[in-house]
Amino acid sequence: MAFSGEKSKASIIFDNVTHHYPGNRKRGKTEAIAEFSLEIQEGSFVCLLGPSGCGKSTLLNMAAGFEHPSSGRILVGDKEVTGPGPDRGVVFQEANLLPWRKVIDNITLGPDFAGKPRAQTLAAAMHFIALTGLTGFEHHAPYELSGGMRQRVALARAWITEPSILLMDEPFGALDAQTRLSMQELLVSIWMQTRATVLFVTHDVDEAIFLADRIIIMTPRPGRIRQDITVPFPRPRDYEDLIIHPEYAALKRSTLYAVRHAEYES
Ligand SMILES: Nc1ncnc2c1ncn2[C@@H]1O[C@H](COP(=O)(O)OP(=O)(O)OP(=O)(O)O)[C@@H](O)[C@H]1O
Ligand SMILES: [Mg+2]
Repeated sequence: MAFSGEKSKASIIFDNVTHHYPGNRKRGKTEAIAEFSLEIQEGSFVCLLGPSGCGKSTLLNMAAGFEHPSSGRILVGDKEVTGPGPDRGVVFQEANLLPWRKVIDNITLGPDFAGKPRAQTLAAAMHFIALTGLTGFEHHAPYELSGGMRQRVALARAWITEPSILLMDEPFGALDAQTRLSMQELLVSIWMQTRATVLFVTHDVDEAIFLADRIIIMTPRPGRIRQDITVPFPRPRDYEDLIIHPEYAALKRSTLYAVRHAEYES
């Protein structure tokens, strides 16, 4: 599988989704998500923002197929999600690399498991190694990398299967501010080439405004949509220019306000 750069695209639809985590004798059940409906257009970049515990990861895990809705359904393209699949790449806050596999073999994990021809897989891996700035580190072990480099490997690993959907749960949350910014730029530059549909969870309002076409702000648990904000800035965006754009401060203020005051006004 050489990297084609052309891939299938798909929308994500949450159709009246509710999710309860079951209780037991000692604790009650948790209603994490209530009657959540959202349509994410194919090829768009959507950020989910909301207070801790409002159900962002639960939504992402349901779209990934790791969790199942208690009621309602999730569609990717026209297919209902019933479990994980190679059409959806997932990146978490931790890179979750296999410590015994070197960088290149962590990146080729998906195609290797799928039994793809090794020569083609390696060609695709080299493409993403170059794209993510990991050239020269192909044969390093994960423990020999910095946190930012480990996340680059996780990004390359998610991207090598050319997923139509990329699900990201605070992928840069553990990185320092400078590294985070360069990872955001890297993510957008790859996304502009591939135009996968991205659902990206973050706590960081600046990150959401820099990355997203649309920001969905959730209420506290059970998570519902509190606000649906369109980010008006054209692409490509330059971070330094963006933060002095006349509309930036007002958008940041209203977004921050909606996140912080969700509890009082929902
Ligand atoms: N495996 C689980 N079993 C039981 N309850 C869970 C489980 N996972 C999450 N929860 C509960 O569901 C609610 C939503 O959790 P979730 O992890 O989706 O929130 P979140 O918005 O991602 O929070 P954060 O911003 O802190 O990551 C929380 O109250 C949490 O305690
Ligand atoms: Mg979470």
